Amino acid sequence: LLCGLSAAHAETFPTVDQLPSRPELPDPLKPTTGPIVRTVSEWEMQRRPELAKLISHYMYGQLPERMPVLAAVEMEDTKAYSGKATLRDITLRMGNADAPPVHLLLVIPNDGKKTHPIFVGMNFAGNHAATDHPKVRINPNWIYPKYPGVTDNRATEASRGSQVDVWAIDQAIARGYAVALVYSGDFDPDRTDLRGGYQPILRQKLGRPHGAADFSTIAVWAWGMSQVVSYVRELSEIDPARVAIVGHSRLGKTALLCGAFDDRVQVVISHQAGCGGSAPSRGKIGEPVERINTVFPHWFNDNFKTFNKSPDRLPFDQNCLAALVAPRSLLFSNAVKDTWANPDGQLEVLKSANSVWQLYGKAGIDSAAKPVMNELIGDRLGYFLRPGEHSMNRQDWKAFLDFADREFAKNPAK
Ligand code: GCU
Repeated sequence: LLCGLSAAHAETFPTVDQLPSRPELPDPLKPTTGPIVRTVSEWEMQRRPELAKLISHYMYGQLPERMPVLAAVEMEDTKAYSGKATLRDITLRMGNADAPPVHLLLVIPNDGKKTHPIFVGMNFAGNHAATDHPKVRINPNWIYPKYPGVTDNRATEASRGSQVDVWAIDQAIARGYAVALVYSGDFDPDRTDLRGGYQPILRQKLGRPHGAADFSTIAVWAWGMSQVVSYVRELSEIDPARVAIVGHSRLGKTALLCGAFDDRVQVVISHQAGCGGSAPSRGKIGEPVERINTVFPHWFNDNFKTFNKSPDRLPFDQNCLAALVAPRSLLFSNAVKDTWANPDGQLEVLKSANSVWQLYGKAGIDSAAKPVMNELIGDRLGYFLRPGEHSMNRQDWKAFLDFADREFAKNPAK
C-alpha cells in the first residue's frame, strides 16, 4: 500500500521514454506545468528550483555540499613577476586535515590597492605549468600525457612554465586582478579507471550507494571550484563581491555548472565549452551527446546517457543552465575553427536565456546580435569570437578582462 505521506515526499522523475520530444530549446520561463513565469519571485521560488532539480537529476547530479577549507601557505614570494605581484603556493584540504592536498597558486598584484577582484581558474596541466616561478611545486598527481614535460602521466621540471601564455597571469596582474589557480586532477583525475582525489570521499559522504542521478566528474570539479571560491573570498586582499571564474573546454563546462549553482560568483566565463556546457544538447553541429557520453562516460551522471539517442527529450537544454546564472554575468568565448564546440549554437543558447535577464530588468544580449570578429558583444550575456582553433590564449584573456571590468565597473570596490 502506498502511504500518502511518503508518496507526496518521494521525488519522481519521468524516464526518457515518458518525456515528450521537443526539437526546440525549452523555454527557461515555462514550468513543466502551469503558465510562463512573469516575475522575479516566481522565477526564484518556482521555475529556477525546478530547473536546478531537473538539470541535476538528468545530467550532472547534485553538486556535493560545500565543506570547510583548511589552508597552509607553503611558499610566499612578495616580489614575484618582477616585483609586480605577491605569489603564494598553498595547500588546501577540504573537510579535514587528512583529506587529499589541493595545490593552489595565488597571485595578488602589488599595486597598493586594499582589495582586488579575482579570477579563479581550473587548469589541465598543474599550477607549475602556468608560471615559470622556480619555487612553485611541480604537481605530483596524475596529469594528461599530452602536456609538455609529462612522462608516464607525471609532470617533470620540464613542464614548468609551459602554459604561461594560456593563463597570461602577468596580463591579469597588469589589469589589477588577482588570480587563483587549481589543477582539476587534484579534485578528480579525468579517468574512468582511476579514482584518486575527492570523488571517493564525496561518494562515501552520500551515505547510500551512488546512483544514476548522482554526481560524476564535472560536478566534482565544479564543487572544487566553489571550494576555492570559499577560500579566496575570506582573504583580506580579495574583494568577495568581485569574483570571476574561468575554465576552458571540459573545464569551461565546469565553470558554467559552478557559476550556475554558486551565486557568490559574479562573473562566469565558459571558454569553448561546447557540448555538455555552453552548446545545445539538441545541436546538430559539433559534438553530439551520444559521442560525449561514450568517450567520456565519467563526466556526467548515468541518467544523461539515457538521452544518447534522443537529446530532444531532455526537459531542459543548456540555455536553462545558463539561465541559472541570471542576473549575474556570463560570457561564452569561442574560436571560428572550433566547430566541435558549436560557436553558433552557443550564441543561440545565450539568446534563449536572455528572457531571464529581462525579467530582472538587466541587459543580457540582443536577439538580433551577430558575432563580430575579435569583439565582445552583448551585455551581461557576453559573446566573443576570434579566429583560430581550440585553445586559450592572451587574446582570450583580453576579452575575459574586458568583460570582467565592465561588470565590476557596475559594482566598484568600496
Ligand atoms: C574533447 C571533448 C570536448 C571537450 C574537449 C576538451 O574534445 O569532446 O567535449 O570540451 O575534449 O576538454 O578539450
